[in-house]
Amino acid sequence: MPAPVKLRKAVFPVAGFGTRFLPATKVNPKEMLPVIDKPLIQYATEEAIAAGIDTLIFVNGKHKRAIEDHFDVVPELAWQLRERGKDELLAQVENIVPPGVTCINMRQPQARGLGDAVLCAESAVGDEPFAVLLADDLIVSPGQSHVMKRLVECHRKHGATILSAEFIEAEKSRQYGVIDGEEIEKGLWRVTRMVEKPEPQDAPNRIGLMGRYILQPGIFECLRRTGEGAGGELQLTDAIAMLMQSEPVYAQLCEGTRYDCGSKAGYLQANVELGLEHPELGAWFGDYLRALVKERL
Ligand code: G1P
Repeated sequence: MPAPVKLRKAVFPVAGFGTRFLPATKVNPKEMLPVIDKPLIQYATEEAIAAGIDTLIFVNGKHKRAIEDHFDVVPELAWQLRERGKDELLAQVENIVPPGVTCINMRQPQARGLGDAVLCAESAVGDEPFAVLLADDLIVSPGQSHVMKRLVECHRKHGATILSAEFIEAEKSRQYGVIDGEEIEKGLWRVTRMVEKPEPQDAPNRIGLMGRYILQPGIFECLRRTGEGAGGELQLTDAIAMLMQSEPVYAQLCEGTRYDCGSKAGYLQANVELGLEHPELGAWFGDYLRALVKERL
């Protein structure tokens, strides 16, 4: 097997309408919704950077400049924070894009699905493997072993497409890509079937895809050859299923907790659970919740 190429680039599809969060997402991307004090997209970029990625490729929609701006410098704000001696805040703001990390902004002209968004990033990715992170999946992992870091390690070993997955309840198959395959080592599956959002009775197994992928560049050709799938959209799952005909695809079971922040319930859970862990607010929030439960529930 040729020496694996270092994984440098990550694609963040951020052009979706986020209709489940209207009116909050009328002009702002859902990826800019904060969990406590940090937008969802920044949790994802931090996870990618911690995994060694140095090029962040955002696939934006029309009228959605907020993400581009969030990852740009704001000299007036930096000046004001410096003047007021707010060094910690200044460092936080300046470190959103650490030295050595580059941002590229691309445009997805029409929201035609996740597969189409990934295809829009082709010219920035080129002929090398790359990561895809869906920021509305906020994943909290035990210790420092972020999902993306584990996928990168796995990619280094296998040099192939690696997906992140978890066991799901049967009725949730309608929300996810569902895979089947053979477990070749603990927590690592060689994928043999993939279906996007099947009805529970049609789901090949109970393993659902999470919004973290490492894809081999052959995916672009498959995306070009893939037609409309579930929901009339170009589905990344269908293109990976096509890629699987000519090269191996693996799925790694995730060890963390996924908060599906594309749904209001998941978003609320993320805020509560990360709130309890928050260094400044956690202790107070725990007391508050205990009192609230006693009084109201
Ligand atoms: C997308 C993918 C799906 C995957 C999910 C993870 O769906 O198409 O296969 O399981 O992300 O969050 P979406 O949530 O964009 O509908």
